[in-house]
Amino acid sequence: MSVSQTDPPIPAILYGTAWKEEATRGCVERALAAGFRGIDTANQPRHYHEAGVGQALQAAFEAGWLSREAVFLQTKFTPPDGQDRRIPYDAGAAPDEQVRQSFRSSLENLGVDRLDSLLLHGPTQLRGLGPADWAIWRALEEIHRQGGASHIGVSNIDPDQLAELCDRAEIPPAFVQNRTFLRPSADYAVRALCAERGIGYQGFSLLAILPRVEADSVLMEVARRRGWSPAQLVFRLCLDRGILPLTGTTDPRHMEQDLAVLDQPLSRAELGELQGRLP
Ligand SMILES: NC(=O)c1ccc[n+]([C@@H]2O[C@H](COP(=O)([O-])OP(=O)(O)OC[C@H]3O[C@@H](n4cnc5c(N)ncnc54)[C@H](OP(=O)(O)O)[C@@H]3O)[C@@H](O)[C@H]2O)c1
Repeated sequence: MSVSQTDPPIPAILYGTAWKEEATRGCVERALAAGFRGIDTANQPRHYHEAGVGQALQAAFEAGWLSREAVFLQTKFTPPDGQDRRIPYDAGAAPDEQVRQSFRSSLENLGVDRLDSLLLHGPTQLRGLGPADWAIWRALEEIHRQGGASHIGVSNIDPDQLAELCDRAEIPPAFVQNRTFLRPSADYAVRALCAERGIGYQGFSLLAILPRVEADSVLMEVARRRGWSPAQLVFRLCLDRGILPLTGTTDPRHMEQDLAVLDQPLSRAELGELQGRLP
């Protein structure tokens, strides 16, 4: 992986920008001011306002308190099936050309000349990887080789697809971004494969597990002792399990709380106490 000296470090937590529409710029400005140094977005107008992310970044760059090298920028190529009518590339073009057009449009939206990470939002088919997925992946590899994205990766992928991708890719994924607690197995097979292959695992919708945490008196007692909210405990437990969390909170107090747990690891005794209590 050709990561240059000036690349920003991979952050311990990512600020997610989905579903914020016109509020995107303000949320990203608040997240950057709170201390987030990793931003996740997508060139998918249906769920993300990528240009709003760009406006927040440009404002911070121009004000001089943030440099491009200090912030890790990740976006996604979303295939046509994941878009609404506002497709940010020629949907009639071949998949590899769609990736190139989407990438150029992302650079323009974000106002930058390179990305730190570019993900395939999800394979184009439910099982296995087809010709379109491979054309997309080859285009991502090319963008990486040309220095357009320091890392490439994939989202919403199952264990068999990930194994296939790792086996046949010329440049294997640096990141997987998945909904961790979608199934009771907590995406264990994908997480294990990531650990084995040195792939960074990013988890979203982590707070879906909150009802289970709140119903567990042992977990709640650890949160109480630490002075943490149940959400903070979830993020901390995820960090301790090697999951890079995404949070898309709009609340400045939650932003601070989510960042606060980064440098407060659970002790070995606490981890022992909590073993097996969260999937
Ligand atoms: N790859 C994909 O397909 C995909 C899919 C979904 C999401 N994502 C990414 O993941 C990001 C996060 O999405 P998400 O699904 O995890 O949900 P989220 O947007 O982070 O929403 C979290 C919800 O929990 C609430 N909350 C309460 N306490 C919180 C705390 N301490 N910290 C954070 N939130 C708290 C938030 O409310 P407040 O706003 O009031 O705090 C919000 O309603 C997205 O923005 C996107 O970047 C990717």
